[in-house]
Amino acid sequence: MKKIQISPAILSADFSQLGNEIKRLEEGWADMIHVDVMDGHFVPNLTIGPPVIKRLRNFTKLPFDVHLMITPVNPLLEDFAKSGSDQIIVHAEACNHLHRTVYQVKDLGCQIGVALNPATPGSVIEDLIPFLDIVMVMTVNPGFGGQSFIPASIEKIRRLRTLANKLECSPRIEVDGGVKADESAQQSVKAGATILVAGSAIYNQQETVSEAMTR
Ligand code: DX5
Ligand code: ZN
Repeated sequence: MKKIQISPAILSADFSQLGNEIKRLEEGWADMIHVDVMDGHFVPNLTIGPPVIKRLRNFTKLPFDVHLMITPVNPLLEDFAKSGSDQIIVHAEACNHLHRTVYQVKDLGCQIGVALNPATPGSVIEDLIPFLDIVMVMTVNPGFGGQSFIPASIEKIRRLRTLANKLECSPRIEVDGGVKADESAQQSVKAGATILVAGSAIYNQQETVSEAMTR
């Protein structure tokens, strides 16, 4: 079976202890650290920015999977890259010139992912998929942890994987939102997902998310 990567979302961690929380994840089975950046504008919530990410960089060698829920995104990309982001995920809905943004991230030396909200069809990135490292399917509406997985996302993941196969490319497909050690994880992986983000599932001590996908 293909390797499935787990990207724990620190959004659900204790923000007063972020450094220690990240160390704890490194001692576990995390493949990367999912950092949710929210601006109170693109999404109705506020979190952290480049200075905090830069400090957190000292606590782990694991890649930082930085999910930017901000608009405008372009003026801050360089700061996020310099702060130690390894993968930068931008939202298709937040970019007027997505092709330019994709290449801006690549030129900064980071892996590029594009996220799609539940209401955004996969077809909007059809012409870009061959240039992407990651396609992120939002399986909740972004802004908060602890929401329920939207079941229709499974079909979207399947269609995106089929499209990528047709275009003879193999981006990693990441699912973000409401993923737990149940059919949400299992069906996502069966449909073609290769990275699972898990926030509340991990911090609510349901640490068997990784087991669920390998069943
Ligand atoms: C939602 C975030 C997700 C989310 C994951 O806007 O992008 O990363 O917090 O947390 P859970 O797993 O609790 O949905
Ligand atoms: Zn996220």
